Amino acid sequence: MTTTHSPREDIAEVIATEAEIRDAVERLAGELTEDVGELSPILVGVLNGAFVFLADLVRRLDFPLEIDFMNASSYGEGTVSEGLEIQTDLSLDVEGRHVVLVDDILDTGQTLQGLVRHVTGRGAASVRTCCLLDKPARRTVDFEADYVGIEIPDRFVVGYGLDFAQRHRNLPFIGVLRPELYQSQ
Ligand code: XMP
Repeated sequence: MTTTHSPREDIAEVIATEAEIRDAVERLAGELTEDVGELSPILVGVLNGAFVFLADLVRRLDFPLEIDFMNASSYGEGTVSEGLEIQTDLSLDVEGRHVVLVDDILDTGQTLQGLVRHVTGRGAASVRTCCLLDKPARRTVDFEADYVGIEIPDRFVVGYGLDFAQRHRNLPFIGVLRPELYQSQ
C-alpha cells in the first residue's frame, strides 16, 4: 500500500505524550542506575517493538553495559501448553552475567515470563525486566515487570516502536488508531 499522509492523522487518541514518555524513561534510567549500575549488565531488547525505547533508555545510562537483542512470540494458553517460539536468540554469552530484558509493552505477560525462564536457563546471574508500558488488565500469567514506565488501559496502542501491521512505529508518542483503520485490515 502506498500512502503519503502522516501517520499522525491515523491517531484517534494520544495515550502517552512525548513529554510523558521522556519523564518515564528518565525515571527508569534512574532506577536501573541505582540497581544495576555497578553490575556491568547486559540489556536485551525484545524486538521489534523495543528498539525505540531501548535506544532512548541506554543513552540515559552512564555506566558500562552491553546490548543484545531477542525476538520471540508466545503461543498457547494456560500453564500447560504455553510456550515461547524464539526467532532471534541471544548472541552474547549471559552465563554469570546480570541481564535486563527491555520490552515495549507488558500485556498477557507470557512473552516476558518465557524469556526470563529462557535467559535464566542460560545461566544468567540475575534477570530483571523493564517495560515502558504495562496493561495490567490483560495479564493471564502471574508475572510483573521489575521496572514499569507507564500503566495504560486495555487499549491496542501504536507508536514509539509499537506497530499495527508493521506501521506507525515511527510516531514519537503512543496512541490509539482510528477504529476504521483496525477494521480495514
Ligand atoms: P505478552 O502478551 O506476551 O505480549 O505480554 C507482549 C507483546 O504483545 C504485543 N502487544 C502489543 N503490540 N500494541 C502493539 O503494537 C499493543 O497494544 C500491544 N499489546 C501487546 C507486543 O509485541 C508485546 O511485546
